[in-house]
Amino acid sequence: MSRKFYITTPIYYVNARPHIGHAYTTIACDAIARRQRMLGAETYFLTGTDEHGQKIERAAQAAGKTPQQLTDEVSAQFRALWDRMGLAYDDYIRTTSDRHKYGVQALWRRIRDNGYIYKGHYTGQYCVFDELYVDAVGPGAPCPECSRPTETVQEENYFFKLSAFEDKLLRLYSEQPDFIRPETRRNEVTSFVRSGLRDLSVSRSTFSWGIPVPDDPKHVIYVWLDALSNYITALGYGSSDTKLYDKFWPADVQMIGKEIVRFHCVYWPAFLMAAGVPLPKGIMAHGWLLFEENKMSKSRGNIVRAETILDVLGADALRYFLLREIVFGQDGSFSFDALVQRYNADLANGLGNLASRTLAMITRYFHGEVPYPSHTAAHTPADDAIAETARRAIAEYNALFDQYQFSRALELAWGLVAAVDKYIVENEPWSLGDKQDEESRARLATVLYTSAEALRIVTALAHPVIPEATAKIWAQMGLGDIKKFSLSDLKWGQLHLGTKLGTVEAVFPRADKSTIERMQKMEEQQRSAPATAEAKPVAPTPVASVPPPTSAASLPDGKISIEDFAKVELRVGQVKVAEKVKGADKLLRLEVDLGTEVRQVVAGIAEAYAPETLIGRKVVIVVNLAPRKLRGLESNGMIVAASAEGGKPVLCGFLEDVPVGTRLK
Ligand code: MSP
Repeated sequence: MSRKFYITTPIYYVNARPHIGHAYTTIACDAIARRQRMLGAETYFLTGTDEHGQKIERAAQAAGKTPQQLTDEVSAQFRALWDRMGLAYDDYIRTTSDRHKYGVQALWRRIRDNGYIYKGHYTGQYCVFDELYVDAVGPGAPCPECSRPTETVQEENYFFKLSAFEDKLLRLYSEQPDFIRPETRRNEVTSFVRSGLRDLSVSRSTFSWGIPVPDDPKHVIYVWLDALSNYITALGYGSSDTKLYDKFWPADVQMIGKEIVRFHCVYWPAFLMAAGVPLPKGIMAHGWLLFEENKMSKSRGNIVRAETILDVLGADALRYFLLREIVFGQDGSFSFDALVQRYNADLANGLGNLASRTLAMITRYFHGEVPYPSHTAAHTPADDAIAETARRAIAEYNALFDQYQFSRALELAWGLVAAVDKYIVENEPWSLGDKQDEESRARLATVLYTSAEALRIVTALAHPVIPEATAKIWAQMGLGDIKKFSLSDLKWGQLHLGTKLGTVEAVFPRADKSTIERMQKMEEQQRSAPATAEAKPVAPTPVASVPPPTSAASLPDGKISIEDFAKVELRVGQVKVAEKVKGADKLLRLEVDLGTEVRQVVAGIAEAYAPETLIGRKVVIVVNLAPRKLRGLESNGMIVAASAEGGKPVLCGFLEDVPVGTRLK
């Protein structure tokens, strides 16, 4: 029986379109899954979307859609992007699917029947952004996780007896140290659990966008219990067909970002223990992808879309950059400069150049057939040194990859690329090629065989990370379909004499400064596009084909077109926090809830409004205004007011009640 391997990504919220932060996790899992397949394991790779909960319900409301419309659209966007990137997932789970609903309800019943769910009353604070019950006191108190204002929830709820699992969880972390990786996260989780666990509210009755609690449909199941279950419902848990579940559960690794460690390392194993379901073998939490020094996220508005990089440099460039540049487990920065620098150094001038020059010389000097290395006088210690470097690379690359040390693994493999480059320069095959004597021919054969064999080894090792380019190089080397190659068999000396090369073509064309500018421009255009574009399927936007915006100048009397107006995104917000700005008589600092996020806005209204009169008031915000700093505070949006007599600001409002987040058109 072959070895099994099951890997999962978190399922992504559908309140925001995908960006390279989501792609980061999915790419890492894809690379691991591809390598496992190459090693002969029967592999199952799951991803999907998380579609229930108050956050999604409000995002839909703000977009003027039903929750189902929004989730259908955004879930399809994620899926289309993963397909475009060639991510080879085996299943894509949506939490609004029937198979998931039944599975979650089956899990609920098991936990309930085992005595771990009871009914009680909950009064406390809830953070809609994190979908988390928090220890905070008083209406609007800031969430300890994200500092956004929390909402007071008073409900009759179902509770999960989380407190019963304190000791069991602590035992799990100490007996299975690899359950949570890296170690820093394990330590954080351990101290969190040691400080005491309170029972967890696992149902909500104030909104309905969720899975009904079995036998009590007034309540919906807490979104995290719903979401976490995807890892087993996708395999058929709770259904009549449990073949996949029986085969693949428990998961070998569940990959997550570090901000959702508590849900995966405390709640998830506790739910499973309560249901009597085996635990996953390990949870691996990676760090954050930062852009302009902050976590890349929709609420910060600092996202980079994968589409831009795909259009300009291709999926392999993004994959290689993310796994090579960032130490997996730690935070790492993304920039277009660094991306292009890495691309040129390691892919265009590194692997790409090694492939084209080695294969071009074999074509030229040996009619496109791999020559045989000489073991006689034409053989030198430099050849052995390359073979030795390659052997070490194979052994160590595998070990590093297994420990999720992708960047060190790739560094090691590219050490072989550098060694062969140097070897080629020092052995000057082009000079040998000019000579016709037997010794020079034998030496040339050895040098080109050694180079080609090293190229083959790097190509095989790198395949899970850069699948497209390596498949091309493999085919150019006349080796057929790389997917059929068994990585466990990889060793020095397997390249056969006489292997006929295919057509040799460059795989990584060089990039330059204009490549960076092009990508930056594409991203800027996306950011300034009307917000309604957000819910549309993401289409590639080649720079040249973007029509010039209609400008006021082209219309009579300085009028603007409807497109011009649509660029201004006005939304209803609710003031949660208002305070004076020290040293500025006219300014107030506001925190305004927009339904999907809370924004800081600095407004010149202090002379007209006392801060306390504004709390809870609904206002109109220009949300897509570029942020600017006022007295050192970043203002992220503008509050709309009439400028009355003497310039006195009068805030814009509504006679009817309008939900937070609603767009003005
Ligand atoms: N829906 C929950 C997860 C439920 S899993 C049962 C959720 N969704 S999310 O859309 O916010 O996605 C979070 C995950 O996306 C992170 O844990 C991480 O895997 C990935 N990332 C999103 N932004 C990221 C960065 N800026 N950097 C790194 N990873 C990022 O939380």
